[in-house]
Amino acid sequence: MTTLSGTHKSFWIDSTLPSQYPQLTQDLTVDVAVVGAGLVGVTVAKLLKDAGKTVALIEADRIGQGASGHTTAKVTSLHQIIYSTIVEQHDEETARLYGESNQAAVERLAAMVQEHGIDCDFAHKSTYTFAQSQDNLEKIHKEVETAQSLGLPASFTRDTELPFDVMGAVTFTGQAQFHPRKFMLAIAAMIPGEGSHVFEQTRVHEVEGESPSKVVTTDGPTVTAQDVIVATHLPILDQGLYFAKTYPQRSYIVGARIDASKDIEGMYIGTGNSYRSLRTTPTDDGGLMLMMGGEGHKVGEDSDTEIRYQRLEADMQRYFDVTPDYRWSSQGYESFDKLPYIGPLTPANSHILTATGFSLWGMSKSIMSAALLCDRILGVENPYAKIYDSTRATPFVTQTSIKENLDVGSRWVGDRFKGLFDSPDGIKPGEGKLVTVDTQKVAAYRDEAGELHAVSAVCPHLGCIVAWNSAEKSWDCPCHGSRFGCDGEILHGPAVNPLESR
Ligand code: FES
Repeated sequence: MTTLSGTHKSFWIDSTLPSQYPQLTQDLTVDVAVVGAGLVGVTVAKLLKDAGKTVALIEADRIGQGASGHTTAKVTSLHQIIYSTIVEQHDEETARLYGESNQAAVERLAAMVQEHGIDCDFAHKSTYTFAQSQDNLEKIHKEVETAQSLGLPASFTRDTELPFDVMGAVTFTGQAQFHPRKFMLAIAAMIPGEGSHVFEQTRVHEVEGESPSKVVTTDGPTVTAQDVIVATHLPILDQGLYFAKTYPQRSYIVGARIDASKDIEGMYIGTGNSYRSLRTTPTDDGGLMLMMGGEGHKVGEDSDTEIRYQRLEADMQRYFDVTPDYRWSSQGYESFDKLPYIGPLTPANSHILTATGFSLWGMSKSIMSAALLCDRILGVENPYAKIYDSTRATPFVTQTSIKENLDVGSRWVGDRFKGLFDSPDGIKPGEGKLVTVDTQKVAAYRDEAGELHAVSAVCPHLGCIVAWNSAEKSWDCPCHGSRFGCDGEILHGPAVNPLESR
């Protein structure tokens, strides 16, 4: 086992105080229940309260500690290479609306920060997607041309402040960066009062009926609401087939304090499989934190994840001569047709809504989703509702979707035979393995003190077999991205129940 550098925690979470909202302890009635207090949930709850609705924002963990607290937090309408892809997969009008809606989200976030005077290290920046090979350079030229034709603030440049050579980049001006958890905590603090509430440590496991709906929590108390928004990254309710319309991706980030002379002004991301994402952010003691991300892969397909942190660490050392102070990972759901799903949970629902499939660019899309869902509940027409309609026919027949769904099928069957003859005795301290005990598939982890932690290896979501993630010390489900701690506790949905003890 290798030793990785830095605290294994998101900088965004480590640099903010823990939130302390109460648990839901008794039944409650409000106009709108919002399940999940990430960037979508917090923002839509605030917008609805401002519009005169009473809301209950319900979070299983703490405010902003899920996907929104593990991002690089670039708020931009340039999503690596996106516009030429959307024109190819859809049409020019869809690409235009995609650009316009994401630009509007950048501006909306800036307006909220200004209106409420939120101290969240918000700054306008330019975004860059750069190429380091001839192939990727051609894609960059095409992206510049397409984005310009759609009226976006795009141009081509060879000048970057990066400490390595690039062949060229597409850049968008007028984009933004911020500290996402500072923003979410500030917005959440404005929600309680006048019939509205924020609850933490309250896990929702079911929504019964519609208009009104009863939101049922694991500990028993319920929230009755005319409208429900399920803002849990991938919806926790197994309706609408979102787990089959998206696939889960993990990526990794390391953060290190750097000298101000090494600052990079813009926000950067490369192209191709070995891309790197870079940005800096101020620290509260007047310093500067550099974040470098990359090493994306499908959840559960790689158990030796330590090597991914090692590669990022090596690049930090090589290009900036620093060792990481932080390391953390992030998870996103890629939508097969590149567009998020925002709207009713299923075609049969009008008052149970969701937003998912942000394809790793969740900041602008979260703000956009919040605005769109708020408009829908208020009966206001939104020009972007149609292209993001969550009930749209999805092209399940693309090459990627066929491959991803085949992968899920083969995981469901094939993983049952893995580790069949292993015994927990051979597991070394710090190691996790699948073993078979009395014909049961067991996920077994031996901690550094030598104690064995054994839980069922069967994911309670839809029954796939979990896989060991060595760097995060977690059990990850390769089918739809649920993640569990060594004792089976839920780290990430869509599962709403832990792995059973063994
Ligand atoms: Fe769906 Fe595990 S997340 S089966």
